[in-house]
Amino acid sequence: MLDGKKIVLGVTGGIAVYKAVEIASRLRKLGADVHVIMTRAAKEFVTELTFREITGNPVSSDMFAPVAHYNVEHIALANLADVMLIAPATANVIAKIAHGVADDMLTTTALATVAPIFFAPSMNSNMLSNVATQENIKTLTSRGLHLIEPASGHLACGTSGKGRLPEPCEIVSVIDSFFNEGKSLSGKNVLVTAAGTREPIDPVRYIGNRSSGRMGYALAGEAVSRGASVVLVSGPSSLEAPEGLKEFIKVETAGEMRAAVMSRFRDADIVIKAAAVADYRAKVIAENKIKKNAEEWTLSLEKNPDILKELGEKKRGNQILVGFAAETQNLIENAKAKLEKKNLDFIVANDVTKPNAGFNTETNLIKILSRDGGVEEFPLMKKSDLAKKIFERIEKVMEK
Ligand code: CTP
Repeated sequence: MLDGKKIVLGVTGGIAVYKAVEIASRLRKLGADVHVIMTRAAKEFVTELTFREITGNPVSSDMFAPVAHYNVEHIALANLADVMLIAPATANVIAKIAHGVADDMLTTTALATVAPIFFAPSMNSNMLSNVATQENIKTLTSRGLHLIEPASGHLACGTSGKGRLPEPCEIVSVIDSFFNEGKSLSGKNVLVTAAGTREPIDPVRYIGNRSSGRMGYALAGEAVSRGASVVLVSGPSSLEAPEGLKEFIKVETAGEMRAAVMSRFRDADIVIKAAAVADYRAKVIAENKIKKNAEEWTLSLEKNPDILKELGEKKRGNQILVGFAAETQNLIENAKAKLEKKNLDFIVANDVTKPNAGFNTETNLIKILSRDGGVEEFPLMKKSDLAKKIFERIEKVMEK
């Protein structure tokens, strides 16, 4: 999604430098060509070698070091950049750029580039709220530099407040959105649930199901590539999260999934519930491992909340709600009933008894049932291709 985009990543000396390593790594995984410039202070926290290995490019820091690649290095980097991202940006570097100071490779490149500059301040909350810093930030934003707002929370100095560097995935998501604006789902918030939940019985056992999460992960990846801001809530899965997510939330139980989904539902434009949620949980979770003393064992279960049904009740008119129906019999009738009962825009029905379809396979065999009674059938396809078909349908619903 950032294929071939040249990103100059300016890294300054704050405690959040370690997050810059992950930012560089995530940008590269999205296909960007990342060139890191470090200040002298940044090198006190992390070595050049780390960034060189992660980006596959030489790291610049010393204006006067012999150069391997560029004619006049800071100018070459300034020209090469499609975007410059400064993360973390200390109060010091923000002040210098605001005043046109160019006394190292980073500030010189910032002054010389005409590429858009994003900066993510990270510092103690008093330093951030200091009038000097606030005015410097205002100066930069009034000149068109893009501020990535600091987050609130625990700070390295032991206090808590505003000043944390946002999580690397959020920063990368800002850069991703910048390049992908104009895509079909740019500006849209998509919430996807995936994989099966696990309901504990005792410290070693749980009730689970065969869902691998493949369909949900493919949907989340497809939403990212269409420019959406994507939150993926996933039960346990061995899959790697798609790159470019705004948030990746791992949960275990239906209760945890419900809490994660409900707290994000208000902001979501599109919700796809591909997760295989356990319908029941143990009434009592044993504190210790249950021993096999008895010849028979009866486990008392109680019903889990139906998350999708609750979403259907809360749904606003412009929100799109998509559900899945995993069936072993009466596919159409059962799926239709769920479509109505859960107030969905459409439902993806799959007969999980068919070979190479349903749980834990690379492919799936689905039918899409809509509110007007229409049934669209698809041949056996890879889950990644079906994710495209499902989003084509979502975009059609959006046009209405
Ligand atoms: N779902 C949910 N919460 C639950 C159960 C299901 O949000 N407690 C969602 C699933 O993510 C899926 C849809 O509801 O999108 C249908 O799930 P499915 O397991 O096929 O159906 P159920 O509603 O659980 O009904 P049944 O098990 O009786 O077939």
